[in-house]
Amino acid sequence: MKQTYRILKPSAQNAETARQRFLHDVEQGLSQSPKSIPSRYFYDETGSKIFEQIMDLPEYYLTRAEYEILNNSRQQLAEMMNLQGFNLIELGAGDGRKTRVLLEYLQSAKIDFRYIPIDISPGAMATLQEEVSACCGDLEMLGVVGEYFQGLNWVEKQVGGASLVLFLGSNIGNFHPGKAKVFLRRLRQVLRPGDFVLMGFDLKKDTRRLNAAYNDKQGITAQFNLNLLNRINGELAGAFDLDNWAFYSWYNPLSGAVESSLLSQVRQTVHIGACDRNFVFDAWEAIHTEFSFKYSEAEIESMAKLAGFLVVHHFYDNQHDFVDSLWRVPA
Ligand code: AVJ
Repeated sequence: MKQTYRILKPSAQNAETARQRFLHDVEQGLSQSPKSIPSRYFYDETGSKIFEQIMDLPEYYLTRAEYEILNNSRQQLAEMMNLQGFNLIELGAGDGRKTRVLLEYLQSAKIDFRYIPIDISPGAMATLQEEVSACCGDLEMLGVVGEYFQGLNWVEKQVGGASLVLFLGSNIGNFHPGKAKVFLRRLRQVLRPGDFVLMGFDLKKDTRRLNAAYNDKQGITAQFNLNLLNRINGELAGAFDLDNWAFYSWYNPLSGAVESSLLSQVRQTVHIGACDRNFVFDAWEAIHTEFSFKYSEAEIESMAKLAGFLVVHHFYDNQHDFVDSLWRVPA
């Protein structure tokens, strides 16, 4: 039995440079108007655990919808791609719960592939490796700890064969559409003719359902956002008093995004020790934390074409809440 689990770090990621980048982004974000903190900082150890709870929330339909899609469409997906000896590359794999249905199916269908997750978090990668070795025994896995494009370039140089790149869970929704277009064009450029991409998009729908998904009754999504301030307190010697902050999130049909923020409930000054600076927040001033863009089929298709991909197929859940869109790089 071939049991290959390797974790590679294309460039030395040390804790100090990660902390410096976090400080730089927080300082810069809180100096802008409106103030903001990039959503990628949600996912420290605590935040990743809270996100797992979000995926189980009754209101958060996204994860279940995509699980259903992968579970129902995996055979059709494999037949449409018709690849052997390929790289299954996953960007931002998380805990791999959804990917698992795909991995298990491909293995049972005797399709030859290797699994190459790329994730910035060494902790998430270690957990993922345990999950995969538990479910998929002799699967060849090559975990790459790094930024998406750093990892993709590394894989394209070091590993031969065709690739299917998974970018699931509506993670693309965190990008502003302009940035999403740049991201997709870059992705197209690192891939080769015949490669495939499977992109998860949350579809535009009744605003009440969107608002409920990001304003759960148990307040888990609020905790997820407030954890950003906790993280600044812990890692950057911040002095945020969490009692002074409220979570606010609302779908804006004009931007096409659920727009999330933390609101300062009083006028307050907060010191951040790591840069020895004070930040002043007015009463009811917002720190923008996240965009979760929602797309229509027409928007998805035009983005794919603009980036140079051919749309092969749209896989839907039964309720048409979500789509996994399969794209191919033309010859
Ligand atoms: C992981 C980016 C897809 O935007 O729906 C969940 C993150 N934020 N609840 C999303 C999130 C609030 C999620 N993504």
